[in-house]
Amino acid sequence: MSTPDDLHLPDTALQGLGTRPFGVYVHVPFCATRCGYCDFNTYTAGELGSGAAPEDWLDGLRRELDLAAQRLGTPPAADTVFVGGGTPSLLGPDGLAAVLDAVRQSFGLAADAEVTTESNPESTSPALFAGIRDAGYTRVSLGMQSVAPHVLRVLDRTHTPGRPVEAAAEARGAGFDHVNLDLIYGTPGERTEDLQASLDAVLEAGVDHVSAYALIVEDGTALARRVRKGEIPMPDDDVLAADYELLDAMLEKAGLRWYEVSNWAASDEARCRHNLGYWLGGDWWGAGPGAHSHVGGVRWWNVKHPARYTATLTEGALPVGGQETLTPEDRHLERVMLELRLAEGLPLDALDDGGAREARRAAADGLLSTRDLDGGRAVLTDRGRLLADAVVRRLVT
Ligand SMILES: C[S@@+](CC[C@H](N)C(=O)[O-])C[C@H]1O[C@@H](n2cnc3c(N)ncnc32)[C@H](O)[C@@H]1O
Ligand code: SF4
Repeated sequence: MSTPDDLHLPDTALQGLGTRPFGVYVHVPFCATRCGYCDFNTYTAGELGSGAAPEDWLDGLRRELDLAAQRLGTPPAADTVFVGGGTPSLLGPDGLAAVLDAVRQSFGLAADAEVTTESNPESTSPALFAGIRDAGYTRVSLGMQSVAPHVLRVLDRTHTPGRPVEAAAEARGAGFDHVNLDLIYGTPGERTEDLQASLDAVLEAGVDHVSAYALIVEDGTALARRVRKGEIPMPDDDVLAADYELLDAMLEKAGLRWYEVSNWAASDEARCRHNLGYWLGGDWWGAGPGAHSHVGGVRWWNVKHPARYTATLTEGALPVGGQETLTPEDRHLERVMLELRLAEGLPLDALDDGGAREARRAAADGLLSTRDLDGGRAVLTDRGRLLADAVVRRLVT
């Protein structure tokens, strides 16, 4: 692993910076409790130790953003900002305002910047939403997961079943036009009617964006240990496929259209521009412990522990844990993997001859749309969306 602050950004990576959309991701590594399924870089107060309190983290963040803007030469204004976690809402309105101020002071914000914060329903309130709206946030993403109490229990979520929808209404009441609800499906013990009830609640909330993820049993998590011990079964692939079909049908019927395999939006304006930047190979600086960045084909990631993160920055160095320069093959694979998941699909000329031949076979198998293929794009069919990873493997061999 590299030592901190040996970030090497060659001129070739910096070329064109600012002509492509530029995003800033800020990682907030704090949670009140840890959900058993989650392996994100996040810590409870008891796990943190000294030198890692939220004030230390904020001090480190300000330093990182200033160094970042210097390192990029003429830093582009941020077109999008995404404050994720962890649980950003634990910072409260003043903490979240301070985060956005730090981005303004380092990179600056584009006039029509999209500024999102993730939030856990239980640590939000009308005052929080009013405060962050005033501070300049334009979008809120809430971790809802499910309305079924027994599903929330398996996931170790601490909010009451009704709180996410209430929080979404509070966010809209505070002036947020763009509100997302995150759902998890396929949790062992979830029945079709539980998922249906969650979707009814999402639709009743009137949000303009929904993300729905299949539960992944990540190695090293409490959930993985429970599965290994036989306390909980693995999510079932057939159930996951049926769940996806159900949720897609319900969301589409209500006017929320898929634009990425796990994301639905009520209009083009409701799409998450920040995430589209990731999926379309854009540039972003990821600040905060463990955050990943990408500029012009160079990818790097920060040290994970908040104490080491802040200590490195206090010494005046960027807290880089490692970096890699993507080879043309890496870039090709990433492009196919990410763009194929979009409703717009992937231009066929991005594929080599073998990939284009496979695309025609995949269309014959009903996995890619024949009409779009004739128009020069590889676009997943409804069935193809269920098998997106397998289609990617066919197109890159
Ligand atoms: C990492 S969280 C951060 C935001 C916030 N703390 C929350 O829980 O909503 C972002 C989203 O990732 C989802 N997520 C985390 N681990 C997951 C897993 N193993 N499988 C599916 N979704 C997961 C969470 O449920 C959440 O909706
Ligand atoms: S609240 Fe979100 S980030 Fe925190 S442990 Fe749970 S899923 Fe992970």
